[in-house]
Parts: sequence; C-alpha cells; structure tokens
Amino acid sequence: MAPKLVSAMSVVIACLVALAFLFESSHAAGGATYNVVSYGARGDGKTDSTKAFLRAWSAACFSSRSATVYVPRGTFLLKPVVFSGPCRSSRIVFQMGAGTSTTLVAPSNYWELGNTGNWILFIKVTGLSIYGGTVDARGAGYWHCKRYGKSCTAGARSVSLFWCSNVVVSGLRTLNSQTMHMAIDHSNNVHVKNVWIRAPSGSPNTDGIHIEASTGITITASTIMTGDDCISLGSGARNVWIERIACGPGHGISIGSLGGSVNEDGVQNVTVTSSVFTKTQNGVRIKSWARASNGFARNIVYRNLIMKNVDNPIIIDQKYCPGNKGCPRQSSGVKISKVTYKNIRGSSGTQVAMNFYCSPSNPCWGIKLQDIRLTYGKKAATSSCANIGGSKSGVIIPRSCF
Ligand SMILES: *[C@@H]1O[C@H](CO)[C@@H](O)[C@H](O)[C@H]1NC(C)=O
Repeated sequence: MAPKLVSAMSVVIACLVALAFLFESSHAAGGATYNVVSYGARGDGKTDSTKAFLRAWSAACFSSRSATVYVPRGTFLLKPVVFSGPCRSSRIVFQMGAGTSTTLVAPSNYWELGNTGNWILFIKVTGLSIYGGTVDARGAGYWHCKRYGKSCTAGARSVSLFWCSNVVVSGLRTLNSQTMHMAIDHSNNVHVKNVWIRAPSGSPNTDGIHIEASTGITITASTIMTGDDCISLGSGARNVWIERIACGPGHGISIGSLGGSVNEDGVQNVTVTSSVFTKTQNGVRIKSWARASNGFARNIVYRNLIMKNVDNPIIIDQKYCPGNKGCPRQSSGVKISKVTYKNIRGSSGTQVAMNFYCSPSNPCWGIKLQDIRLTYGKKAATSSCANIGGSKSGVIIPRSCF
C-alpha cells in the first residue's frame, strides 16, 4: 500500500475508534434509550400510542442494564396502560420531556378509561424514575356523569404505583384526573417531588396523591389544587414525610377515612411540615368511621404550617358516617394517639379553628399543642373538644379545650 493511503486510513480508523469510544461512554453513563416514537408512537394527539409505549417499555424492562423509555415533545394519546415488572433492568427511567411540551392525554370519551380503575399503572417495578411531562386525563366528562348521570364507569386514577419500590417521580404535572391523580399502594421508598397537580375545586374525588399500605414515602416541594384531599393517607401508610406543599383549593391533607373495615392496618410515623394551605376545606385532618375497627393513627407530627382562610385548620373527626348507615354504636374503634401540632398559624374560615371529636370508646391520648395562633376574622376563634387528652406549651390561640 502507498504510504499516503496508509496514513489516511489510520486517520480514519483513529476517528472511528474515537467515535466508538464516545458512543460507548455515553451509553455507559445513560444506559440504553428506547424512544417511543421508534416503536410507532405518534405525538399528534390523535393516534392511539398505547401499544407503542408498551413495546418501548418491554424493551427497556428486558434490558440488562439501566434503560430509559423516552417520550419526546408532542401529545400522545394513551388508553389504559400497565407498565409491569419485575424487570431485568434494575433501573428504568421514564423520561418525558422537554419540559411541559410532552403530554400524555386520555381518550376524549371518559368511558374509554373503563372500569380498570387506573389509567397509567406501574406495577411491580423496582428502581423507577419518572421525570417531567404532563398527563391530562380530561376528566370533565366523567365528573359530569358522576354529578348527573345514572350509571358511570368506575373511574380511573391517573398515575398509579402498585408494588413498586425505589421510585422517584419528579417534575410531573397531572391534570384533571377522573378520580385520584396519583395513587401509591403496596409500595416502598417512593419520593415524589416538584409535582404540580390541578383539577377544579368542584371536581368530585379528585384527590391529589393517595398513599396506602406503603412505607418510606416522601412528598416534597409540590403544588396541589384539587376538588378533594391534596394528599390522603389510608390504612397501612407508614414512615411518611410531607414537606413544602402548597395545598388549595382542596380538602387539605388527610389521614383517613380510617376504620372502614373491622380489621385494618393503622397509620404511623407521619410528618407534615413547612406547608401552606389556602382556602381549603381542612388543614390537617384525621378522620375515622364511627364503627368498630382495630385501626389506629399514631406518632403523627404537624409542624410549621400556615393556614390561609381554611375552614377547619386543625380537625380530628371520629364520627364519620355518611347517611348514618353501618354505624350501630356510633363510636369509632380507631385509636388515635401521640399527635403533635406545633407552630401552626394563620386564619380560620369558621369560628371553630381547632375541632377535636374523638371516639367515646377510644379517646385520643398524647395529643400535644405547641405555639398555635389561629384567628377568625375580627372575632375570636374557638376550640372544641370531645374525648381527648394531652398537653400544651407555648402560646395557644384559641385557648386549648383539653
Ligand atoms: C419515621 O419516618 C421517617 C421517614 O419519614 C424515617 O426516616 C424514620 O426512620 C421513621 N421512624 C421510625 C421510628 O420508623
């Protein structure tokens, strides 16, 4: 070979090696990427992309290394979809984005979400990150049916995590769900941050985030505006940390309704801190059915909270019994203990700013009040107590009734 040709070839080879190295190293850092568009999804807002998303998910799930399902800019129509594990890949990133320009929409006919109960469901996945994007369930038709219709579908939650662990959800926006916007059930070690949730204040049962039978759940730096609870914690929610939430409109942050069944797991070790409630029905609420149960709520801390014109800033309600059905003795079996309210300030929308109605058969105990300052317009706010005991320190306004 001529020396010139040899040197030209060696330059080409060197370049190829360098390119291959770059290519490899980017893969080594980011793992394999599966773009839903390569699997047939179309971001035109009309084409059903469900199967394409499932194919991309399967490819990522079966990958032997960390894998990204990538949803590019566009509006993608999805029917009910289940992204299921267990996966071979131990880390899956579900990346939507560029910012808010990637949207997943539900079909415009509400009944197409059917009776499955969930629209976008992740099940048995360990090591999942969901980043960015908007999901819009377009729930208005469903709410209308609920309000005026005779037979509606069961309704679907928008984004659900069942039997998942080691999950991060960050930067997601979820709008107008038929029922709950996010549900975390039988899962552990889940961190939800920087999410933005919105449904109209009159929309029925559109809770923001619901947690049940799960442990190690952190929800931070999020804005939640809904027609029901901003965050609700059901039976078996443990080790829950909630911080920097802007809640309202909505029904506040609720534990309960507990005690719906006789045998049920309790709620314990929950902290709600550094949050603001604006024009909500409740601030921090614990609610239970007025009937027999072995449930409980204990080791709960509410601190550094601001209430802005909240109807019931602090409330325990153990006499829940809609329609007065199924509550023969009108007394809750749910045991509430060790609940601390510390540094809670602002305004109440009703005169009774602190309302504790505990069970006559299972009084609340170990309730602590410290540095509470709640006002009611130009009049004095009041507090109301039944079947409760505990201690207080610092300035308490309105004056404690126990
Ligand atoms: C309570 O929950 C927090 C997380 O919110 C956790 O770090 C802590 O270890 C839990 N405490 C107990 C006693 O389990």
